[in-house]
Amino acid sequence: MEPLFEQLKQRAISAPMRIVLPESTEPRTLRAADRIIADGIARVILIGDYYAITNSAAELGLTNIGKATVVDPNNAELVEKYAQLFYELRKNKGVTVEDARVKVKDPLYLGCLMIKNGDADGQVAGAMNSTGNVLRAAFQVLKTAPGVDVVSGAFLMMLPEGSPYGENGIMVFADCAVVPEPDAQQLAQIAVMTAKTAHDLAGIEPRVAMLSFSTKGSASHERVNKVVEATALARQMSPTLSIDGELQADAAIVPSVGASKAPGSSIAGTANVLVFPSLEVGNIAYKLVQRIAGAGAVGPVLQGLAAPVNDLSRGCNVEDIYKTIIITCNQAIAAGR
Ligand code: ACO
Repeated sequence: MEPLFEQLKQRAISAPMRIVLPESTEPRTLRAADRIIADGIARVILIGDYYAITNSAAELGLTNIGKATVVDPNNAELVEKYAQLFYELRKNKGVTVEDARVKVKDPLYLGCLMIKNGDADGQVAGAMNSTGNVLRAAFQVLKTAPGVDVVSGAFLMMLPEGSPYGENGIMVFADCAVVPEPDAQQLAQIAVMTAKTAHDLAGIEPRVAMLSFSTKGSASHERVNKVVEATALARQMSPTLSIDGELQADAAIVPSVGASKAPGSSIAGTANVLVFPSLEVGNIAYKLVQRIAGAGAVGPVLQGLAAPVNDLSRGCNVEDIYKTIIITCNQAIAAGR
């Protein structure tokens, strides 16, 4: 595992968090859970039928799953307790107690309700469920952290050895997962939150580039104006943040291009956090860097939620789930849970 993950793993072991895995019989999830328990990284909570889970674990030859807490979504007492909570949270949206009783049986919602109620610290899902379903449960139950109104998804890009870019071989990209068309205010929040993720999780001093197809007025278009406005708003939100924009990607990360296209910029040519103007660009860019440059892409790390929930790709492997749980534990520790 990369040195960064060894550090994050040790931090997680030092204060094991209660992590819900709602996709409890999914084989990759169970294998990752078994490793997490064996390594003492988290206290695992599996949502599902006890016998179905233990049978699946036995078929896979897993020996540690017996140490997980199993929460049965068909337990009537439990359903009632969390249904009342969901009803209270969503009654102003027209949700009835009957609707809530049905919703609570969905493990994605039950996990979030456990976190909301203080019975768990974080959740990891998405090996079987779409991003939209994982996110919607978290948005509706946990909502955003104080002072934040948009959740976004960052990727820690683990660059190939010897890469001249980033810091300690890492760059952080956002938003690559959630907000299709952020406005300037949302883009500014995404920049500030991504800088925090870069600092708290990747351990790097963030130098944030607000990317565009223009550098310092080389093109004029409403989309460029949005990035300029977002840069100014992010500076207001976080006056000490090292940030600049609008910058093209080469001006952001190549020192000679930064010096010629954006002379005087404090971060041009040396940016280690890249903020993309829309989800299309962010999602396409991280996948291209992953495939063409051979970078590892860890994420999406969801940022801005009141408590950590992270989404997996349905194509994920056991290692991806293991790392995502470690990240979620670290977010929970950073949030003081
Ligand atoms: N931050 C915070 N809250 C949000 C956000 C957000 N970014 N988006 C929606 N919400 C809240 C809404 O305010 C609403 O709250 P309320 O019900 O309490 O009023 C609730 O979530 C549901 O809002 P909707 O607008 O109904 O949400 P919708 O279901 O339409 O969409 C979603 C939300 C699923 C996240 C949507 O934005 C989406 O599909 N985004 C793209 C996800 C995706 O497919 N990403 C690419 C794949 S991921 C990858 O490749 C790594």
